[in-house]
Parts: sequence; C-alpha cells; structure tokens
Amino acid sequence: MAEEAVLGYLLDNEEITDSGQFSDEHNLNHDEVVNVIKRLHAFGYVDCQNIKRVSSVLTDEGKKYAAEGSPEVHYFLAVPAEGSISKEELQKKLSPSDWKSKTSVFRIGSIYAIKNKWVEGGKQVSRKVQHVEDKVKNLLLQIQEGMELDEESLNYLKNTRRLIEEKVWKGYSIKKGPNYAPKRMSFATDLSRENLQKSITSMLNDSLLMLDIFTPFSRYSNVRKQFKDIFRQMGFEEMPTNNFVESSFWNFDALFQPQQHPARDSHDTFFLKAPSTTRELPEDYVERVKQVHESGGYGSRGYNYDWKREEANKNLLRTHTTAASSRMLYALAKKPFTPKKYFSIDRVFRNEAVDRTHLAEFHQIEGLVCDRGLTLGDLIGVLQDFFSRLGMSKLRFKPAYNPYTEPSMEIFSYHEGLGKWVEIGNSGMFRPEMLLPMGLPEDVRVIAWGLSLERPTMILYEIDNIRDLFGHKVDLGLIKRNPICRIGIE
Ligand code: PHE
Repeated sequence: MAEEAVLGYLLDNEEITDSGQFSDEHNLNHDEVVNVIKRLHAFGYVDCQNIKRVSSVLTDEGKKYAAEGSPEVHYFLAVPAEGSISKEELQKKLSPSDWKSKTSVFRIGSIYAIKNKWVEGGKQVSRKVQHVEDKVKNLLLQIQEGMELDEESLNYLKNTRRLIEEKVWKGYSIKKGPNYAPKRMSFATDLSRENLQKSITSMLNDSLLMLDIFTPFSRYSNVRKQFKDIFRQMGFEEMPTNNFVESSFWNFDALFQPQQHPARDSHDTFFLKAPSTTRELPEDYVERVKQVHESGGYGSRGYNYDWKREEANKNLLRTHTTAASSRMLYALAKKPFTPKKYFSIDRVFRNEAVDRTHLAEFHQIEGLVCDRGLTLGDLIGVLQDFFSRLGMSKLRFKPAYNPYTEPSMEIFSYHEGLGKWVEIGNSGMFRPEMLLPMGLPEDVRVIAWGLSLERPTMILYEIDNIRDLFGHKVDLGLIKRNPICRIGIE
C-alpha cells in the first residue's frame, strides 16, 4: 500500500526526492501517492514540498500529424514530379469533404509547402524540389518519445503551429515530519457506524467533555451568524448554495477560467467518479462561453485554444462559492435588469495539503453587488463597511490576479495575536468576458469578494492554527480556558 511504502522508505532514508520517481520505482499510482502524502502531512507524519515539471505533449492535431505525416508533405506528394496540377484538383485529391475548412490538409498543406519553397503556388501548382523531409512529423515523434528539442523547434511547434502544448506535472519531495512513525495509528475518525456509536456513548458518559468538544463549533457558528446578520443589515439577499457537486462549466468555464488552468488539475480539485459528468447545460450560453474562451469578442482577444465540451461537463466538488454566483448572475441576466446585492456562506472543497492555515474542506463567504456603473472605489467602500462591522477595521489591499476579475485585490487584516497582516480574502470586479456572454447589459458592473469563514474566525478569536478550530486536533486545553457556550442552531 502506498502509505506503508512512503512511511517505510522514510524509516531508512532521509528523503523521497521526487514522488513521481518514487511511484514508478514502487509500482504505485502517483495520484494515490499524492493523496497519501497530503493525508500524512495533515497529521504531521511527513513534511513535504511542491515540485513541478513542465513538459510538452502533442495536441490532437499534433498526434494526427505524428501518425499520418504533416499536411505539407501530403500536399507536396500530391503534386506531380513533372508538370503541374490545378489548385481545384489538389483540393479534390487532398480534402474532398472538408476543403472549405481552415484546418483541412489542403489549406494547411498549401501554406507550409509554399513557405518551405517546396512548390510554386498560383492557379497551377508545380514542384520546386524533388525530395522533401517530413521535419514536423519527425520532431513530433521525438517529443512523443520524450526527447528534448531545441528552443527554436519547440517554439515553432508550440506557438506557430500549435501542435504541442505544455503540460505541468506536479508532485512532492517528502521528509519525516514532527509526528513521524513508521506506521500510522488508526484514529477514531474511521467513521464506521460501530465506531461512531462507541465514541458517542463514551462522550455521553462525560457530558462536560462533550460540551467542550462542541465549543469551537459554536464559536464558529457564532461568526457565521454574525456574517449573516451583517449582510442582511447591509441589504444583501442570500443565494441558494445547496449543491456541493457542481459542473466544471459553472465552477470554471463560466468564470472565464481557461481549461488548462492548474486549479482544474485533479491535484487541486476533487473530481467526481460517479456521476462523472453533468446532465445539462444551457446550450446557447455554452456556445457563447466557448467563443469567448477560443477567440474572445466583447473587446477581448480570448485565450486562443480549442475549448472542449467534455472538460466543461466534468463534475466536481465546487472549489469556490463563486460557482453559485455565476449561476445567479446568469439567471439575473435573463430578466430585465434590476440592481442586486447577494451573499452566500457555504462549504467548498480543495484537494490541497492541510496545514496550519488551510483545510481541504472549508466554508466560504461571498458577497456581490451588481449595478450600473460601479467602480473599484465602490468595492473598497463596501469591504471597509463590511469588515468594520465585524470589528476588523485595519484593512489593506494588494493587487492580485483572478481569471474572472479585473482588477483584483487581496484583502489583508491585522492580526493582533500574530502581530502581522494576514490575508483574509480576495476580491475584484467581474470581467466583461464573464458578464457579457451571460447577457447582462454592457454598463452593468459586478463587484465581488470571497473569503473563508475560518480565517476571520481565527483572527477574531486570535487562534493561530486552523486545526484548533475545526477537525480532530482541537486542543481541549484551549477550549477549557474559554467559557462553555451552547451549540448555535443554524
Ligand atoms: N472565488 C475566489 C476564491 O475562491 C474569491 C473571489 C470571489 C474573488 C469573488 C473575487 C471575486 O478565492
């Protein structure tokens, strides 16, 4: 098993330098090893560091040429060795069914056969040389075999011809952690019915302990309630967020997040095995989203890649509540426009290593205001108002990047206990590439922000490790020093 292999190896060795190599050598599945590392890291058994390798892979078009030869060579071979052939005839010979298409062998072949000075263009086409070498095919085969190419060839295949693309491989280097042991103890977190019954019975035998255990939850739901009250006082309506399972479309594509974005990797996002794809999406809107990714529009140049429907169909555990916001804005765009203020507070999921400030499952708070002519000044004003109602009036903003907002700002608040500025959220103005395909009027601006419920709770209660608040590692001593409170029912 992967977990035993990792812990066993670290018993005799100082470090696993590369989780990918380790998986190959031990005949293990790398994704499984990565999950094990994340789990072991969460419990302090190992320390790990991210490593990343960029490699080139063939696009679908590249794969085709690697197998069948490049279109310019097909074009050249279709021109007779002696004399000439008319363009129309070449067209019929090479691309009888798709000669109109921009990507037909005839079109692409003619561009590069002429550029390479293999043939003389014009109405009648004739050869200029008698032998040609299929350089493109050979380079593509070399890449398929994992060979390294020079900068110039890579650049040509990638940027000029779009026959290859970069793929980022992610893994870890691993060392023993503070709680290292060659074997992991089994915890009561193994939630079989039997185990659960046993632990509940033992907790009931010690009711004071039970109250103690629930204290952090109550503290945490207090903050949740405070947020709700604040939003309501500020005139915000709650958005429905009852679907933890979301399609990649609403979680990413609708938000102008390109399909190659690293967040869409299974190392960062939990994808569903069953049902693995969504049943339906609004087709006309999907088409506009595809267009804006591929070639832009609305004043944008887009990302210039082949947008794939299969990628958008994939189901996942939503990584942010902005997925719910995109659904709401789309629904809003279907009706005559009225300004709106929306909020949500609910659970989101990220497949990431757990540490003192991160959990794989947490709650996000999101607010958005949608009106004609809003500006960045409105966003800063709303944030200041919002956080000062929580007693956090020391705020700072830092320019940031999100695929769906421009400009974007990270929000920092001063943590007295830690004596430093800590990041508490992220914000921005939704991009026209997101809003206009939905059908919102052109002068409508949407300012929005998102934050985790856990962060401000930590700041307000001066807790410096998120696991003191949520999860199995709650420190009973810390709880005992605080007054017992009842569980808030929400
Ligand atoms: N979705 C962002 C996150 O998960 C937060 C955010 C929401 C940013 C709205 C900008 C606007 O961090």
